[in-house]
Amino acid sequence: MAKPKVFVTRKIAQEALDMIAGAAEMEVWEGELPPPRDVLINKVKGIEGLLSLLTETVDTDLMEAAPRLRVVSNMAVGYENIDVPAATSRGIVVGNTPGVLTETTADFTFALLLAAARRVVEGDAYTRKGRWKTWGPMAMLGHDVHHASLGIVGLGRIGIAVAKRAKGFNMQVLYYDQARRLQEEKELGVKYVSNLLELLSSADFITLHVPLTAETHHLISTAELAAMKPTAILINTSRGPVVDQKALYQALKSRQIFATALDVTEVEPIPPDDPLLTLDNIIIVPHIASASVITRTKMATLAAANLIAGLRGEIPPHCVNPEAMKQKG
Ligand code: DGY
Repeated sequence: MAKPKVFVTRKIAQEALDMIAGAAEMEVWEGELPPPRDVLINKVKGIEGLLSLLTETVDTDLMEAAPRLRVVSNMAVGYENIDVPAATSRGIVVGNTPGVLTETTADFTFALLLAAARRVVEGDAYTRKGRWKTWGPMAMLGHDVHHASLGIVGLGRIGIAVAKRAKGFNMQVLYYDQARRLQEEKELGVKYVSNLLELLSSADFITLHVPLTAETHHLISTAELAAMKPTAILINTSRGPVVDQKALYQALKSRQIFATALDVTEVEPIPPDDPLLTLDNIIIVPHIASASVITRTKMATLAAANLIAGLRGEIPPHCVNPEAMKQKG
């Protein structure tokens, strides 16, 4: 029997490609940049499986162009790039890669938090520019992380992993979420704050761990930034549009808050002329919180497993719309 055709939108870990090659006739997009939209639409025409990244918009137009498509496997925990209801109505199962990137993303959140608090990136730039003239008693003063308070917005898997790290720094951990996490309150000593503005005004550090939805779009905007302490440090490793970047620029420029570190931006990549890039109290890195060798390999092999299961007509191990199976004849 002929193997099903699949398209993989970027070169991923070889281990994962080997898995897919064993189960399907595979084409891999070898470019460093994502396939242009017209090329992608053309590539999906005869395929049954698509292994996509966050950079691909999997919408109705794409699905219309791919009448044989049965599974979309996104190599990411987030899947806001996919129109899931449209996939479900067409019987297309959608997979994602939760769990495997939790600890790595939490490590990186902490790396950003420490770097912003202690001005690591700014200090490096200062040194390279030849501005280090002496040991200055008042130079490059930052804020302590140990014994400070941390406000976690969204105490899901990654938020919990961040809270565990914070405990090692003797931080007081507060959280805001739609639902209380009584087990974590008991086990980690984290404290629930039912009002977002109250959390923002009490915490020294604020870290965002919510998915991007209509409710979380610009969750942090002018009023929320105004509620923060002048010494506050905001970290975002979730999704760029959770923070209103225009409001953030004003808050950082006027030193309304101390600093920010972003792994994600409203538009990715951030345009080189974005005003945020002119500020010295912000760190911006290119969406790399999950970018460790081991984790990216795990994400790729999990995405491959999801893809293969979908091709076999099974529910992928991590499926966001199992109800899509009901649409199949
Ligand atoms: C995800 O998986 O959603 C991340 O943003 C990329 O690792």
